[in-house]
Amino acid sequence: MKKINASITAVGSFLPQTVLSNLDLEKIVDTNDEWITTRTGIKERRILDKGIGTSYMAINAAKAIIEEKKINPLEIDLVIVATITPDMHATATAAFVASKIGATNAFGFDINAACSGFLYGMSTASAFIESGRYKKILLIGADKMSSIVDYTDRNTCIIFGDGAGAVLMEPNNEGLGVQDEYLRSDGNNRDLLRIEAGGSQTPITVEAVNEKKHFIYQDGKNVFKHAVSNMADASEKIMTRNSLNNTDVNFLVAHQANKRIIDATSNRMGIVDEKVLMNIHRYGNTTAATIPLILSDYESKFKKGDNIIFASFGAGFTWGAMFLKWAYNH
Ligand code: UT7
Repeated sequence: MKKINASITAVGSFLPQTVLSNLDLEKIVDTNDEWITTRTGIKERRILDKGIGTSYMAINAAKAIIEEKKINPLEIDLVIVATITPDMHATATAAFVASKIGATNAFGFDINAACSGFLYGMSTASAFIESGRYKKILLIGADKMSSIVDYTDRNTCIIFGDGAGAVLMEPNNEGLGVQDEYLRSDGNNRDLLRIEAGGSQTPITVEAVNEKKHFIYQDGKNVFKHAVSNMADASEKIMTRNSLNNTDVNFLVAHQANKRIIDATSNRMGIVDEKVLMNIHRYGNTTAATIPLILSDYESKFKKGDNIIFASFGAGFTWGAMFLKWAYNH
Protein backbone atom coordinates (compact mmCIF):
# COMPACT_ATOMS: atom_id res chain seq x y z
CA MET A 1 0.00 0.00 0.00
CA LYS A 2 1.26 3.49 -0.89
CA LYS A 3 2.24 5.72 2.04
CA ILE A 4 -0.22 8.53 2.73
CA ASN A 5 1.41 11.94 3.14
CA ALA A 6 -0.29 15.01 4.56
CA SER A 7 -0.21 17.89 2.11
CA ILE A 8 -1.33 21.50 2.13
CA THR A 9 -4.04 21.87 -0.52
CA ALA A 10 -5.26 25.44 0.08
CA VAL A 11 -4.30 28.59 1.99
CA GLY A 12 -6.24 31.62 3.21
CA SER A 13 -5.66 34.60 5.44
CA PHE A 14 -7.21 37.56 7.19
CA LEU A 15 -5.61 40.81 8.29
CA PRO A 16 -7.33 43.65 10.13
CA GLN A 17 -7.46 46.93 8.21
CA THR A 18 -6.01 49.21 10.89
CA VAL A 19 -2.30 49.84 10.31
CA LEU A 20 0.09 50.74 13.14
CA SER A 21 3.25 52.12 11.53
CA ASN A 22 6.66 52.82 13.02
CA LEU A 23 5.82 56.52 12.76
CA ASP A 24 2.67 55.93 14.83
CA LEU A 25 4.77 54.14 17.46
CA GLU A 26 7.21 57.07 17.59
CA LYS A 27 4.32 59.06 19.07
CA ILE A 28 3.59 56.43 21.73
CA VAL A 29 7.00 55.24 23.01
CA ASP A 30 10.63 56.38 22.88
CA THR A 31 11.59 54.76 19.58
CA ASN A 32 12.10 55.65 15.94
CA ASP A 33 11.51 54.22 12.49
CA GLU A 34 15.22 53.88 11.76
CA TRP A 35 15.89 51.81 14.93
CA ILE A 36 12.90 49.52 14.39
CA THR A 37 13.67 49.01 10.70
CA THR A 38 17.36 48.20 11.15
CA ARG A 39 16.97 46.09 14.34
CA THR A 40 13.86 44.13 13.28
CA GLY A 41 12.93 44.74 9.63
CA ILE A 42 9.42 45.81 10.65
CA LYS A 43 7.74 48.88 9.11
CA GLU A 44 4.12 48.37 10.13
CA ARG A 45 1.67 45.92 11.71
CA ARG A 46 -2.09 45.37 11.69
CA ILE A 47 -4.29 45.87 14.73
CA LEU A 48 -7.71 44.31 15.31
CA ASP A 49 -10.38 46.50 16.90
CA LYS A 50 -10.93 46.28 20.66
CA GLY A 51 -13.81 44.04 21.70
CA ILE A 52 -13.24 41.53 18.89
CA GLY A 53 -11.49 38.23 19.61
CA THR A 54 -8.94 36.14 17.73
CA SER A 55 -11.76 33.90 16.45
CA TYR A 56 -12.95 36.72 14.18
CA MET A 57 -9.70 36.61 12.22
CA ALA A 58 -9.53 32.78 12.32
CA ILE A 59 -13.09 32.48 10.98
CA ASN A 60 -12.35 34.88 8.12
CA ALA A 61 -9.11 33.07 7.20
CA ALA A 62 -11.01 29.75 7.20
CA LYS A 63 -13.84 31.22 5.11
CA ALA A 64 -11.31 32.41 2.52
CA ILE A 65 -10.33 28.76 1.98
CA ILE A 66 -13.88 27.43 2.04
CA GLU A 67 -15.01 29.99 -0.54
CA GLU A 68 -11.96 29.70 -2.83
CA LYS A 69 -11.93 25.89 -2.86
CA LYS A 70 -15.73 25.60 -2.70
CA ILE A 71 -15.45 23.21 0.22
CA ASN A 72 -18.50 21.84 1.94
CA PRO A 73 -17.79 22.65 5.62
CA LEU A 74 -19.61 19.46 6.61
CA GLU A 75 -16.69 17.50 5.12
CA ILE A 76 -14.15 19.05 7.50
CA ASP A 77 -13.09 16.50 10.14
CA LEU A 78 -11.01 18.64 12.47
CA VAL A 79 -10.29 22.33 13.13
CA ILE A 80 -7.07 23.20 14.93
CA VAL A 81 -6.33 26.77 16.01
CA ALA A 82 -2.77 27.55 17.06
CA THR A 83 -2.92 30.63 19.30
CA ILE A 84 -1.72 32.15 22.54
CA THR A 85 -4.55 34.68 22.49
CA PRO A 86 -7.70 32.53 22.56
CA ASP A 87 -11.02 34.40 22.78
CA MET A 88 -11.24 33.25 26.38
CA HIS A 89 -9.63 30.76 28.73
CA ALA A 90 -11.28 27.38 29.27
CA THR A 91 -12.95 27.29 25.90
CA ALA A 92 -11.21 26.24 22.72
CA THR A 93 -11.31 29.00 20.12
CA ALA A 94 -11.21 26.20 17.51
CA ALA A 95 -14.57 24.83 18.71
CA PHE A 96 -16.15 28.26 18.20
CA VAL A 97 -14.51 28.68 14.80
CA ALA A 98 -15.73 25.24 13.67
CA SER A 99 -19.31 26.09 14.64
CA LYS A 100 -19.23 29.50 12.99
CA ILE A 101 -17.93 28.18 9.65
CA GLY A 102 -20.53 25.39 9.64
CA ALA A 103 -18.07 22.56 10.28
CA THR A 104 -20.57 20.82 12.51
CA ASN A 105 -19.16 17.34 11.81
CA ALA A 106 -15.74 18.41 13.04
CA PHE A 107 -14.13 18.58 16.46
CA GLY A 108 -11.83 21.42 17.38
CA PHE A 109 -9.01 22.16 19.79
CA ASP A 110 -6.35 24.81 20.30
CA ILE A 111 -2.60 24.41 20.37
CA ASN A 112 -0.60 26.67 22.64
CA ALA A 113 2.99 26.66 21.44
CA ALA A 114 3.36 30.40 20.75
CA CYS A 115 5.35 31.14 17.61
CA SER A 116 5.86 27.42 16.94
CA GLY A 117 2.14 26.72 17.26
CA PHE A 118 1.62 26.46 13.52
CA LEU A 119 4.49 23.97 13.06
CA TYR A 120 3.32 21.87 16.00
CA GLY A 121 -0.16 22.03 14.43
CA MET A 122 1.19 20.86 11.07
CA SER A 123 2.82 17.95 12.84
CA THR A 124 -0.43 17.06 14.66
CA ALA A 125 -2.58 17.37 11.55
CA SER A 126 -0.08 15.31 9.54
CA ALA A 127 -0.17 12.48 12.07
CA PHE A 128 -3.98 12.32 11.90
CA ILE A 129 -3.91 12.27 8.10
CA GLU A 130 -0.99 9.84 7.68
CA SER A 131 -2.75 7.38 10.00
CA GLY A 132 -5.79 7.48 7.70
CA ARG A 133 -8.03 8.60 10.54
CA TYR A 134 -9.07 12.00 9.09
CA LYS A 135 -9.07 13.45 5.58
CA LYS A 136 -9.78 17.18 5.80
CA ILE A 137 -8.13 19.21 8.54
CA LEU A 138 -8.31 22.97 8.78
CA LEU A 139 -5.23 24.30 10.54
CA ILE A 140 -5.33 27.98 11.52
CA GLY A 141 -2.65 30.15 13.10
CA ALA A 142 -4.20 33.26 14.63
CA ASP A 143 -3.17 35.78 17.24
CA LYS A 144 -4.42 39.11 18.47
CA MET A 145 -1.12 40.16 20.01
CA SER A 146 -2.41 43.71 20.57
CA SER A 147 -4.61 42.26 23.34
CA ILE A 148 -1.56 41.25 25.43
CA VAL A 149 0.95 43.95 24.49
CA ASP A 150 1.83 46.82 26.80
CA TYR A 151 1.95 49.89 24.54
CA THR A 152 4.29 51.64 26.97
CA ASP A 153 6.93 48.89 26.65
CA ARG A 154 9.14 49.52 23.63
CA ASN A 155 10.73 46.05 23.97
CA THR A 156 7.52 44.39 22.87
CA CYS A 157 5.10 46.88 21.33
CA ILE A 158 7.28 47.52 18.29
CA ILE A 159 7.40 43.85 17.37
CA PHE A 160 3.94 42.39 17.55
CA GLY A 161 0.85 42.61 15.32
CA ASP A 162 -2.46 40.84 14.72
CA GLY A 163 -3.45 38.43 11.94
CA ALA A 164 -4.57 34.96 10.94
CA GLY A 165 -3.62 32.42 8.29
CA ALA A 166 -5.13 29.04 7.52
CA VAL A 167 -4.32 25.93 5.51
CA LEU A 168 -6.33 22.91 4.51
CA MET A 169 -4.44 19.63 4.96
CA GLU A 170 -5.45 16.52 3.03
CA PRO A 171 -3.98 13.11 2.11
CA ASN A 172 -1.59 12.88 -0.84
CA ASN A 173 -0.62 9.66 -2.62
CA GLU A 174 2.08 11.15 -4.87
CA GLY A 175 4.70 11.51 -2.16
CA LEU A 176 4.04 15.25 -1.79
CA GLY A 177 3.33 17.06 1.49
CA VAL A 178 5.08 16.79 4.85
CA GLN A 179 8.28 14.73 4.57
CA ASP A 180 10.06 15.22 7.89
CA GLU A 181 10.07 17.28 11.07
CA TYR A 182 12.46 18.19 13.86
CA LEU A 183 10.54 19.74 16.76
CA ARG A 184 11.90 20.62 20.20
CA SER A 185 11.02 22.53 23.39
CA ASP A 186 12.87 23.74 26.50
CA GLY A 187 10.69 24.81 29.43
CA ASN A 188 13.68 25.84 31.53
CA ASN A 189 13.73 29.15 29.71
CA ARG A 190 10.04 29.95 29.91
CA ASP A 191 10.60 33.05 32.06
CA LEU A 192 12.47 34.80 29.24
CA LEU A 193 9.28 35.22 27.18
CA ARG A 194 6.01 34.91 29.05
CA ILE A 195 2.74 36.28 30.38
CA GLU A 196 2.93 35.72 34.11
CA ALA A 197 -0.59 36.49 35.30
CA GLY A 198 -3.81 34.80 34.27
CA GLY A 199 -2.63 31.23 34.66
CA SER A 200 -2.96 28.84 37.60
CA GLN A 201 0.34 29.89 39.14
CA THR A 202 -0.48 33.61 39.26
CA PRO A 203 -4.22 34.24 38.81
CA ILE A 204 -5.31 37.70 37.74
CA THR A 205 -5.51 40.05 40.72
CA VAL A 206 -5.57 43.82 41.02
CA GLU A 207 -1.94 43.66 42.20
CA ALA A 208 -0.91 41.52 39.23
CA VAL A 209 -2.55 43.96 36.83
CA ASN A 210 -0.99 46.96 38.56
CA GLU A 211 2.38 45.28 38.12
CA LYS A 212 1.51 44.71 34.42
CA LYS A 213 1.94 40.97 34.76
CA HIS A 214 -0.99 40.36 32.41
CA PHE A 215 1.08 41.70 29.50
CA ILE A 216 3.65 39.82 27.46
CA TYR A 217 7.20 40.25 28.71
CA GLN A 218 10.41 39.31 26.96
CA ASP A 219 14.12 39.48 27.62
CA GLY A 220 14.68 40.40 23.97
CA LYS A 221 18.45 40.04 23.79
CA ASN A 222 18.44 36.61 25.43
CA VAL A 223 15.49 35.35 23.38
CA PHE A 224 17.24 36.61 20.25
CA LYS A 225 20.36 34.52 20.99
CA HIS A 226 18.34 31.34 21.57
CA ALA A 227 16.20 32.01 18.50
CA VAL A 228 19.20 32.43 16.19
CA SER A 229 21.01 29.30 17.33
CA ASN A 230 17.99 27.00 17.62
CA MET A 231 16.20 28.00 14.42
CA ALA A 232 19.41 27.75 12.40
CA ASP A 233 20.33 24.40 14.02
CA ALA A 234 16.90 22.90 13.35
CA SER A 235 16.90 24.05 9.73
CA GLU A 236 20.39 22.69 9.10
CA LYS A 237 19.49 19.37 10.75
CA ILE A 238 16.40 18.85 8.62
CA MET A 239 18.42 19.59 5.46
CA THR A 240 21.20 17.17 6.41
CA ARG A 241 18.77 14.44 7.46
CA ASN A 242 16.99 14.65 4.11
CA SER A 243 20.19 15.03 2.02
CA LEU A 244 19.07 18.47 0.81
CA ASN A 245 21.70 20.95 -0.29
CA ASN A 246 21.15 24.69 -0.69
CA THR A 247 20.13 24.35 -4.34
CA ASP A 248 17.59 21.59 -3.55
CA VAL A 249 15.72 23.94 -1.21
CA ASN A 250 13.28 26.13 -3.15
CA PHE A 251 12.03 28.28 -0.26
CA LEU A 252 12.53 29.00 3.42
CA VAL A 253 9.27 29.82 5.21
CA ALA A 254 10.43 31.03 8.61
CA HIS A 255 8.62 32.51 11.59
CA GLN A 256 8.71 36.29 11.21
CA ALA A 257 10.01 37.58 14.57
CA ASN A 258 13.02 39.56 13.51
CA LYS A 259 14.62 39.87 10.06
CA ARG A 260 18.05 39.37 11.61
CA ILE A 261 17.00 35.96 13.01
CA ILE A 262 15.72 34.88 9.58
CA ASP A 263 18.91 36.11 7.90
CA ALA A 264 21.05 34.14 10.37
CA THR A 265 19.02 30.99 9.63
CA SER A 266 19.21 31.36 5.85
CA ASN A 267 22.96 32.09 6.04
CA ARG A 268 23.50 28.85 7.95
CA MET A 269 21.44 27.01 5.32
CA GLY A 270 23.48 28.69 2.59
CA ILE A 271 20.43 29.73 0.57
CA VAL A 272 20.13 32.86 -1.54
CA ASP A 273 17.91 35.79 -0.52
CA GLU A 274 15.31 35.16 -3.28
CA LYS A 275 14.39 31.87 -1.57
CA VAL A 276 13.87 33.50 1.82
CA LEU A 277 10.25 34.59 2.03
CA MET A 278 9.45 37.61 4.17
CA ASN A 279 6.51 39.83 5.03
CA ILE A 280 7.71 40.97 8.47
CA HIS A 281 7.95 44.55 7.16
CA ARG A 282 4.18 44.57 6.61
CA TYR A 283 2.74 42.65 9.56
CA GLY A 284 5.44 42.40 12.27
CA ASN A 285 5.38 39.31 14.47
CA THR A 286 1.87 37.82 14.47
CA THR A 287 3.04 34.79 16.53
CA ALA A 288 1.15 31.66 15.36
CA ALA A 289 0.00 33.43 12.18
CA THR A 290 3.35 34.34 10.62
CA ILE A 291 3.95 31.07 8.76
CA PRO A 292 0.49 30.69 7.16
CA LEU A 293 0.54 34.41 6.31
CA ILE A 294 3.75 33.82 4.36
CA LEU A 295 2.10 30.88 2.58
CA SER A 296 -0.86 33.06 1.70
CA ASP A 297 1.24 35.98 0.44
CA TYR A 298 3.55 33.81 -1.67
CA GLU A 299 1.16 31.02 -2.77
CA SER A 300 1.41 32.04 -6.43
CA LYS A 301 5.20 31.48 -6.38
CA PHE A 302 5.01 27.85 -5.25
CA LYS A 303 5.08 25.02 -7.80
CA LYS A 304 4.09 21.42 -7.36
CA GLY A 305 7.07 19.49 -6.00
CA ASP A 306 8.92 22.53 -4.57
CA ASN A 307 11.01 21.71 -1.51
CA ILE A 308 10.07 24.07 1.31
CA ILE A 309 11.75 24.28 4.70
CA PHE A 310 9.65 25.70 7.53
CA ALA A 311 11.35 27.00 10.68
CA SER A 312 10.17 28.61 13.90
CA PHE A 313 11.19 29.64 17.40
CA GLY A 314 9.04 31.03 20.19
CA ALA A 315 7.98 31.23 23.82
CA GLY A 316 8.22 28.07 25.84
CA PHE A 317 10.82 27.80 24.40
CA THR A 318 9.42 25.94 21.41
CA TRP A 319 11.17 25.56 18.07
CA GLY A 320 11.72 23.35 15.10
CA ALA A 321 11.87 22.84 11.37
CA MET A 322 9.81 20.87 8.87
CA PHE A 323 10.41 19.73 5.31
CA LEU A 324 7.42 19.78 2.97
CA LYS A 325 7.02 19.16 -0.76
CA TRP A 326 4.44 21.60 -2.12
CA ALA A 327 1.47 19.74 -3.62
CA TYR A 328 -0.16 22.03 -6.21
CA ASN A 329 0.24 24.79 -8.77
CA HIS A 330 -1.82 27.85 -7.99
O1 UT7 B 1 8.59 35.50 18.28
C1 UT7 B 1 9.00 35.08 19.52
C2 UT7 B 1 10.43 35.18 19.70
N1 UT7 B 1 10.82 36.57 19.86
C3 UT7 B 1 11.90 36.98 19.26
O2 UT7 B 1 12.50 36.23 18.53
C4 UT7 B 1 12.37 38.36 19.56
C5 UT7 B 1 13.84 38.33 19.80
N2 UT7 B 1 14.44 39.60 20.18
C6 UT7 B 1 14.55 40.63 19.32
O3 UT7 B 1 14.02 40.60 18.22
C7 UT7 B 1 15.40 41.80 19.74
O4 UT7 B 1 16.09 41.46 20.92
C8 UT7 B 1 14.62 43.12 19.99
C9 UT7 B 1 14.11 43.64 18.66
C10 UT7 B 1 13.49 42.90 20.95
C11 UT7 B 1 15.57 44.16 20.56
O5 UT7 B 1 16.68 44.32 19.69
P1 UT7 B 1 18.16 44.27 20.29
O6 UT7 B 1 19.05 44.51 19.16
O7 UT7 B 1 18.33 42.96 21.02
O8 UT7 B 1 18.18 45.49 21.25
P2 UT7 B 1 18.64 45.56 22.77
O9 UT7 B 1 17.52 45.13 23.65
O10 UT7 B 1 19.96 44.90 22.93
O11 UT7 B 1 18.85 47.10 22.93
C12 UT7 B 1 19.91 47.80 22.20
C13 UT7 B 1 19.74 49.27 22.46
C14 UT7 B 1 19.59 49.62 23.93
O12 UT7 B 1 20.17 50.89 24.15
P3 UT7 B 1 21.64 51.01 24.80
O13 UT7 B 1 21.54 50.35 26.13
O14 UT7 B 1 22.57 50.29 23.86
O15 UT7 B 1 21.86 52.48 24.85
C15 UT7 B 1 18.10 49.74 24.12
O16 UT7 B 1 17.74 50.56 25.19
O17 UT7 B 1 18.56 49.75 21.83
C16 UT7 B 1 17.69 50.35 22.79
N3 UT7 B 1 16.33 49.99 22.43
C17 UT7 B 1 15.56 50.75 21.62
N4 UT7 B 1 15.78 51.91 21.01
C18 UT7 B 1 14.79 52.41 20.24
C19 UT7 B 1 15.61 48.89 22.79
N5 UT7 B 1 14.40 48.92 22.23
C20 UT7 B 1 14.34 50.07 21.50
C21 UT7 B 1 13.35 50.65 20.70
N6 UT7 B 1 13.62 51.80 20.09
N7 UT7 B 1 12.15 50.05 20.50
